Amino acid sequence: VPYGIRCEAAPSTVSRQAFELADVCWDDIGFGIIPTDYMYVMRCPRDGEFSNGTLEPYGNIELSPSSGVLNYGQGLFEGLKAYRKEDGSILLFRPEENGVRMRMGAERLCMPAPTIEQFVDAVKATVLANKRWVPPPGKGSLYIRPLLMGTGAVLGLAPAPEYTFLIYVSPVGNYFKEGLAPINLVIQNDYHRATPGGTGGIKTIGNYASVLKAQSEAKEKGYSDVLYLDSVHKKYLEEVSSCNVFVVKDNTISTPAIRGTILPGITRKSIIDVAVSLGFQVEERLISVEEVLDADEVFCTGTAVVVSPVGSITYHGKRVSYGGGGVGAVSQQLYSVLTRLQMGIAEDKMGWTLQL
Ligand code: COI
Repeated sequence: VPYGIRCEAAPSTVSRQAFELADVCWDDIGFGIIPTDYMYVMRCPRDGEFSNGTLEPYGNIELSPSSGVLNYGQGLFEGLKAYRKEDGSILLFRPEENGVRMRMGAERLCMPAPTIEQFVDAVKATVLANKRWVPPPGKGSLYIRPLLMGTGAVLGLAPAPEYTFLIYVSPVGNYFKEGLAPINLVIQNDYHRATPGGTGGIKTIGNYASVLKAQSEAKEKGYSDVLYLDSVHKKYLEEVSSCNVFVVKDNTISTPAIRGTILPGITRKSIIDVAVSLGFQVEERLISVEEVLDADEVFCTGTAVVVSPVGSITYHGKRVSYGGGGVGAVSQQLYSVLTRLQMGIAEDKMGWTLQL
């Protein structure tokens, strides 16, 4: 049954839970929009501040045709997840980090932004209002999508006069159609994701529209996604369309350093800390394409993809494989440690989870 299609009968594997669940086929929800009950909306009027956020029924929004977000791409988004524990309670993962990142992006795009406290309170309120959509343990998570948009009308190029902060949620499973199986990436140099001095380091909506062509060409050729190189030297790894990248060689785990063209991923940052705590040497630096082709393992990280092992990378028609067709040992270990913490299966010694 495709995700989002309601089950005819309650799925046997998730009946008799101690908490109320929406009528969804939880066994295979994939990563697509499933409309839920409520969204959170908070506005910032001209020369004002964000205040008086409210929960509204989830649905279409009214937008001026000349809004800043539609005309000039003045918009940011965030992504974070809520997991259900066995006892029915719900865990958020480092929501304040998303609030901080949204504020950084807002500064770059000349937008006002909610305070970190407003951001976290709004996330909590939205998840609690939609709690029957948080999948049962082991069946996925509730993906939380905060948006910040210039919704006031402009015609000449300028910051919009009014802004809207909105959060909607959707239950999700695995991001890639491969599920947890390794993905196949292609490096190609016709397209780049970001340029020095540009907006690659913030989560602006335009960064994602600009990779759609590269991504769809790669998918047409059977690849899962594109691994981008830097636009100046066309030599150093940057990231994949929707996630950061890590390279493993012996006991060292390396990832491209944050220099303005790479998204400062919260999963990226968490994996670095987890890897250090497990005794790996971790390096944030320039990583050349030759180096990734010579690696023992490669994996991607992101809120949506979590930790996704890379099975092969193709560069100039040459395909290099990793992990012998399976999941590499380091990727597997990091995935397990992080997800057990996020799902509340293991004790959170990092203090990263927030229980609702
Ligand atoms: C996320 O991982 O949360 C993202 O924002 C990536 C998005 C393209 C799904």
